[in-house]
This record gives sequence, structure tokens and C-alpha cells, in this order.
Amino acid sequence: MPTLLTVLASPRGDYSISRALTSSFVEEWKKNHDRGAVITRDLYQTNLPFVDLPWIAGAYTPAEQHSPEMQAALEVSNELIGELKQADDIVIGTPMYNFSIPAILKAWIDHVVRINETFTASYEGLLKGKKVTIILASGGVYAPGSQMESYNSESAYLKQILGFIGLTDVNIVLAGGTSGVDMGKTAREDLIAEFTPAVTAAAK
Ligand SMILES: Cc1cc2nc3c(=O)[nH]c(=O)nc-3n(C[C@H](O)[C@H](O)[C@H](O)COP(=O)(O)O)c2cc1C
Repeated sequence: MPTLLTVLASPRGDYSISRALTSSFVEEWKKNHDRGAVITRDLYQTNLPFVDLPWIAGAYTPAEQHSPEMQAALEVSNELIGELKQADDIVIGTPMYNFSIPAILKAWIDHVVRINETFTASYEGLLKGKKVTIILASGGVYAPGSQMESYNSESAYLKQILGFIGLTDVNIVLAGGTSGVDMGKTAREDLIAEFTPAVTAAAK
């Protein structure tokens, strides 16, 4: 059974453009994957502690030697990595914050990039053969050739870190210009309609 993992990183609920476009992606993916299963990981509904000393010690200690403290620290990480391993396709709906990823998405990354789980000591990525779509909502426009393109540190970073754990098939839908909606200059439906074809195509 094909499985899609959906990771949501916007706190804006019904106002969120990345969540709206990611929902369209999921609906289209379900149409294209008969009997497919969807795992939803809403980062704002997840208790995501930052990596701490017991986490680090646990990650570098064989599982059979884990103290109860290390086990507890790695619990969330184990769950999140389990979801990634189970998935055939992954969609990440995320805002741009300060030209980069939101801190909550970085916290997720810090839990899933883990030695001997998603990469080896010789830096080989272990999550192979999965397709990733990133739906990146931003107030400004960072499309190729645009004036602000070089300010977008988020796309390059996400490609780099996902590639490091073996996820090299990454397609990014840049949903730029959401500030127009917030300022009442662009209709929300029009902005969503602008990016829906790219989202639909990515969900094949
Ligand atoms: C803390 C914060 C920082 C932001 N930084 C940027 C930025 O650097 N560049 C940009 O174009 N938009 C920025 N924005 C606007 C968001 O990217 C925009 O509102 C986007 O639509 C958020 O995604 P969402 O609609 O899925 O919530 C920022 C918004 C917030 C709240």
C-alpha cells in the first residue's frame, strides 16, 4: 500500500497558504494512489523538544545500552523517523520565516537526521527511493529570475539536508506572494489557483 507522509509547519491554521495547498496535494495524491495511506504529522500538534544531552548521548550509544533517560529523549525521534521510513512519498508544507525554515521544522529535522538511522557514519543517506514535494509559502516572491531569488535560503537548505539522509528526489513548489492576501490586495482563491496546477502535477 503506497503511503504519503504529510508534514505541516505553519501555525496559521485556516489562514495558512501552505496548509491549503498541501491539502490539495493530499486530495490529488489520494486520487492517484488507490488505497494509499496518509500519515499526517502536524508539527504544531506535536511535542517537539530540542535535541538535548540525553538525546545526543542516546544517538551515539547502542540501543541495548540506553539509559531510561536516553530512551525517553529518543522517543519522539524514533516515532518521526518511523513515519519517514514508512512513507513512499513525502509532502512538506512550510512557510518561509526570515528567508529560511521555521524553527519548528528545524526541530523536526534535528530529530530525523540521526546517525545509523537515516545516515551512516560515512555519510551515506539511508532513506532511498522516496519522492519529496515541498510547498513553500512566502510573503515575497523568490521565483527564478526574480529580484529576491538569492534571499531564499530555505530551498537550498532543505534540498541539502534531505539529500544528506538520502532524499534526493525533491520538488519545490514556491508559493510566493502571500503578503498580497494578508494586505487585502490579492484574493486568497486567486493566489491558491495560481499554484494549484504545480501542486496537482507534483502529486502524480
Ligand atoms: C516570523 C515570520 C517571518 C517571516 N519571514 C518572511 C521572509 O523572510 N520572507 C518572506 O517572503 N515572508 C516572510 N514571512 C511571511 C510568510 O512567509 C507568509 O505569511 C507565508 O504565507 C506563511 O506561510 P503560511 O501561509 O502557510 O502560514 C514571515 C512571516 C512570519 C510570521
